[in-house]
Amino acid sequence: MIKINNDKTIISLNGFSYVFDLLQGRVFARLTKDINSLKPITEVKEDMHISYPLSISSFGHIDFRERMLHINDENQYYTYRFIFKGWDIINNFVDKEYFPHSNHKNKGLKITFIDESESVCLEQYYFDYEKDNTIVSFIKITNLKEKAISIKRAMSLQLDFEDLGYHITTFTGKWAHERHITKNDVNYGVFKNSSTCGCSSSFNNPAIMVNNDQLYCLFNLIYSGNHMSLVETDHNDTTRVLIGMNDFMEDIKLEKGESFVTPEATLTIGENENEIRNYSHHFIKDNILRKGTDFPIIFNSWEAAYFALDKTKWQKLANLATSVGAEVYVFDDGWYGENRIDETSCLGDWYLNSNKIGTKEEIKSYLKAKNLKMGLWIEPEMCNMNSQLFKKYPEFAMKFPNLEPVLMRYQLILDLANKEVIDYLIETLTNLFKDMEPDYVKWDYNRLFTDVFSKHVLGGNYVYKFYEGLYRLMSTLCQRFPDIIFEGCASGGSRFDLGILNYFNVIWTSDGTDAKERVFIQDGTSMVYPLCTESNHISISPNHQTNKRSSLEDRINVALFGQMGLEIDLTKASKNDLNTIRKNISYYQRNKDLILNGDNYVYRDENNNVISWGSINKEKTEAIYLVVSLNKEFKQVKFNGLNKATIYHLSFRSQTNIDKETFPDLSGEYLMEKGITISTLFQESDKEENEIGIASRTIRFTAVNK
Ligand code: DGJ
Repeated sequence: MIKINNDKTIISLNGFSYVFDLLQGRVFARLTKDINSLKPITEVKEDMHISYPLSISSFGHIDFRERMLHINDENQYYTYRFIFKGWDIINNFVDKEYFPHSNHKNKGLKITFIDESESVCLEQYYFDYEKDNTIVSFIKITNLKEKAISIKRAMSLQLDFEDLGYHITTFTGKWAHERHITKNDVNYGVFKNSSTCGCSSSFNNPAIMVNNDQLYCLFNLIYSGNHMSLVETDHNDTTRVLIGMNDFMEDIKLEKGESFVTPEATLTIGENENEIRNYSHHFIKDNILRKGTDFPIIFNSWEAAYFALDKTKWQKLANLATSVGAEVYVFDDGWYGENRIDETSCLGDWYLNSNKIGTKEEIKSYLKAKNLKMGLWIEPEMCNMNSQLFKKYPEFAMKFPNLEPVLMRYQLILDLANKEVIDYLIETLTNLFKDMEPDYVKWDYNRLFTDVFSKHVLGGNYVYKFYEGLYRLMSTLCQRFPDIIFEGCASGGSRFDLGILNYFNVIWTSDGTDAKERVFIQDGTSMVYPLCTESNHISISPNHQTNKRSSLEDRINVALFGQMGLEIDLTKASKNDLNTIRKNISYYQRNKDLILNGDNYVYRDENNNVISWGSINKEKTEAIYLVVSLNKEFKQVKFNGLNKATIYHLSFRSQTNIDKETFPDLSGEYLMEKGITISTLFQESDKEENEIGIASRTIRFTAVNK
């Protein structure tokens, strides 16, 4: 709820307040749990170097911390002292409808500033999502003068703390190893979490959590391009957090009267990690995702066949997929173009290779007979140089005119900043979808930016313009084909962000399908993103990426905590394995609503060797937990999120490798505070197996004294 006064404005959340004090033309912004203990700011001493808690910052005032804004004009005039002009409650905000944004369903606060020389107007926006303890913020910059200005940095959100000693959690990694939880302390100096490779990246996800013992703040960005967060503790013992687009290569020219609006940043507030996790999940489900969470069981051909997706192979796989309960057959890479047999050719040629796969009619009638829907993989933002697309439109590719381009995976990125390319892709994909009528589309993106050049972008604003084009493409296709389910993908999970999730409700979490690796990936991902957005497939052992073994049961347990699907070569599975998969798809269907829509609680022991993940219903009468031992230690495991007074009956997902199924009923208090000894959940053979993989069990908790 937002309340405006003459010299104070307050956004109230559940138990927290964001307080804006107005004094001498400046706006001081502070986040507090205890509004009564907040000392009023009574005087601004412009000539002293005091690190005030401010809502915005630019060069020109006595503030030498990292700044929200760097603007200059053609005379290299950098000084912009912004003075408060007014605040208003607003009901909505639309800049570009196709650009990703939260749904603005609640009222917002607009604070207007104009700089002293009256050259630039700055509007700062806050939308309050009180129910989810989240605030969304962004800024709009307008050039008021004749002279053009150039924006070198425009961050979306600034939060100043009046103390130091914060910890930072980031979600870092690489291909097949994304979003591992990484913890650091903030010390004097600047901590940076960023990407410069053209996408939100597997290296550093845009989400970042800053916390001390009482306050946890999760920052994120509704954007898929280069991002940046800065956390600075200065010599005055204050801490500033900034999040927004990366200023690397940023140079946004604004002529007279023109404006630029930054992507939206989110700030979720809570008192501990589990609280943050649930607020963030609810916020994303309620205000970012556009469709519901109902999602079919996918069989994806990639790890089962790679490019060798001929008619005999895919039909065998489809037969087995339907027999175990899959609902959609997804033709991954290799179904299109003249002869896509490896990574070197045909990317960009979006038509069916009927010699390899069969005609459209054959495919449709075969899948229909098997009661399977059809999915297609595409990678529309790219081309091979050896493709009909590149031969016909070489200027569509992003490359310097006279330089040999760097090739990653033998491919080039298309210049999505060129309107003609977007129009071409809209038409090509519309024709493809009309012709093939897929029920499901997996949209991949497999290389990073190197040869960044476009004659369609003047100045250095390429990455933003690229994403403007991409979002127009995605939003047009989502509107034209509302029934298609889209899955985002980027070499696995290299673009797992709120920008993509504004269009595609699910993202392929990672190519890392090894059960143990996947625990780390899903642990980090689910700290921010709801389980319903994670696409998790059961794959084969030994794992193709790590070459490590894990039991089918463990692979199933881990895949259950998200949108479970299959990637495993079913033609190589034994009868027993096929049976196990069939039984567990049905187990998943029965428990899916609880897993995906329950509140999410995690417990980790201090060495991160034992983890429990749980999904719990609102009444806390039903829960499903995964217990994982990541090494040979079989110590205690606890379960967060239960109701203390409730007595729970524990029933285990039956695993063919374990026959221990009975356990006494226990109180929520006991399970949360004392926990149980892990070894009682397993038997000796699992402890041995655990030397090479993990040992895991899924347990359903049901209240017996409701
Ligand atoms: C990378 C994806 O992560 C894989 O799942 C697969 O779709 C390949 N691309 C296909 O080229």
